Amino acid sequence: MGGDIPPPVDQLAAVSLTSDEASSSTVQKARFSDRVRIQSILGRPDGGAGLAGQKVRISGWVKTGREQGKGAFAFLEVNDGSCPANLQVMVDASVSDLSKLIATGTCVTVDGCLKLPPEGKGTKQKIELSVVEVVDVGTVDPGSYPIPKTKLTLERLREFLHLRARTNSISAIARIRHALAIATHTFFDEEGFLYVQTPIITTSDCEGAGEMFQVTTLISTTEKLERELIENPPPTEADVEAARVVVKKRGEAVAELKAAKASKEAILASVAELNDAKANLAATEARSRLKPGLPKVDGKIDYSQDFFGRQAFLTVSGQLQVETYACGLSDVYTFGPTFRAENSHTSRHLAEFWMVEPELAFADLEDDMNCAEAYVKYMCKWLLEKRYDDMELMAKNFDKGCIDRLKLVASTPFGRLTYTEAIKILEEAVAKGKKFDNDVEWGIDLASEHERYLTEVVFQKPLIVYNYPKGIKAFYMRLNDDGKTVAAMDVLVPKVGELIGGSQREERIDVIMERLEEIGLPVEPYEWYLDLRRYGTAKHSGFGLGFERMVLFATGMDNIRDVIPFPRYPGRADL
Ligand code: 4AD
Ligand code: MG
Repeated sequence: MGGDIPPPVDQLAAVSLTSDEASSSTVQKARFSDRVRIQSILGRPDGGAGLAGQKVRISGWVKTGREQGKGAFAFLEVNDGSCPANLQVMVDASVSDLSKLIATGTCVTVDGCLKLPPEGKGTKQKIELSVVEVVDVGTVDPGSYPIPKTKLTLERLREFLHLRARTNSISAIARIRHALAIATHTFFDEEGFLYVQTPIITTSDCEGAGEMFQVTTLISTTEKLERELIENPPPTEADVEAARVVVKKRGEAVAELKAAKASKEAILASVAELNDAKANLAATEARSRLKPGLPKVDGKIDYSQDFFGRQAFLTVSGQLQVETYACGLSDVYTFGPTFRAENSHTSRHLAEFWMVEPELAFADLEDDMNCAEAYVKYMCKWLLEKRYDDMELMAKNFDKGCIDRLKLVASTPFGRLTYTEAIKILEEAVAKGKKFDNDVEWGIDLASEHERYLTEVVFQKPLIVYNYPKGIKAFYMRLNDDGKTVAAMDVLVPKVGELIGGSQREERIDVIMERLEEIGLPVEPYEWYLDLRRYGTAKHSGFGLGFERMVLFATGMDNIRDVIPFPRYPGRADL
């Protein structure tokens, strides 16, 4: 990547084109389609002006359309999602029925000629398309189209998750999200980390917070059985007895034939009948034991009958599993969806969110903090270099300060202070009259209001708080020599609060066993995790970055539900 300072804006707009493409006077077609991406026209340093005279086919959705010159021609603003800018498209009434084209949301594929717009029109457009042929149209009934030209609130847009990707804001966020994901893989790849896929279905609770969604087929199989038992009632005790009688009689028949020294064929035929009767009895007995309701032993649900033969859950974190690879391949990371059944209705929590979790072998807490800081800075620089156009849109529509914030974070060292120092600062603030909803004293879990006060008001930049009381942190964090705190760290950022949570891991088998006991967690489910300490234990550290929190932070959006394509939260899981 380049230096700390991003290049000027007019150069930034074109960075996703190669320099050949950007300076060439022929336009690049999309490789797997016969159309040209609008970004490869408008994203050039000259805004597309150098392409005047070129014939191109473009496709996209009409943002706004208006007939002009008493219906002689129409102007369409077309967007294909490749960049925030729309291409202005001019269609003459002799080319097409204009009324079918102008409704917002209409999908068009058109062939045309790129032209310089007439001088003095006052538009920002450096180029427009004059249509020669309308190739394809997906029409829209403006009376029923739910995403009209007039802006809907973000909240209202959440009612239309299947259509909201067509709006400027959601598509800009999608491109920023993509850029952050690519930045993530590039950063860790450049630093020599291996990407490891950890399981989504797990039998271990990483955080021990009991916020897991259960994965089970017991409920659906029980419902199916119950329906079946109504349609086809189970055999009664009398049915079982009758089947037993048949077995008995057939048994006697075999004995009689044997005693009478009957032919081999006759005996074999009789034995076959006996076996059929026995099979029928077994099946009748088995069905007679079927009962409605979940299977139980000693009053508890019998998970041995569940799909995996034991209780299983959706993962809350891939950390424990990725540690197994770190303790063999050294530096690794996982990046996947995680799930938490916490009943939080905040603008910072989702029930399904994505987490980036690096795990660094032979690294202590300070190495961990250095990695977290370098990674966040890298992502900020990446956005400034690769998606400046979308960041400008966010700055214009949502958060004036978002670009400056990225620049600040990319270039300023993060503050670092211990939890104990953080509490002291908060106590001093309270003494001077600052009011918090949650009381401040050593030992509390910092609330979001405390975290944001520290990063937004006191430090006014990202901040790493480390060495937290062991009582509020997970069992796997390394106990410090003071016996009271663990080598944990949280990265706090303005607007969001906690962006990252991490720690040095407890590598000492005796200490970690004691911690499990102290917390009251059973050892058995963690035996495999303890093996990593029993056999060739290694100093190691890691952290988890909440990917949506990073998108929130970067874009300046207010609600986490708008920075993930399909948000899941209490009461809602659309699509
Ligand atoms: O601090 P957390 O709980 O840490 C872990 O899960 C560790 N196992 C990570 C590790 O060391 N490998 O979660 C990490 C981050 C938080 O800092 C926050 O950004 C995000 O995940 N996060 C959430 N994001 C959205 N919705 C939620 N409900 C979140 N819970 C945590
Ligand atoms: Mg945390």
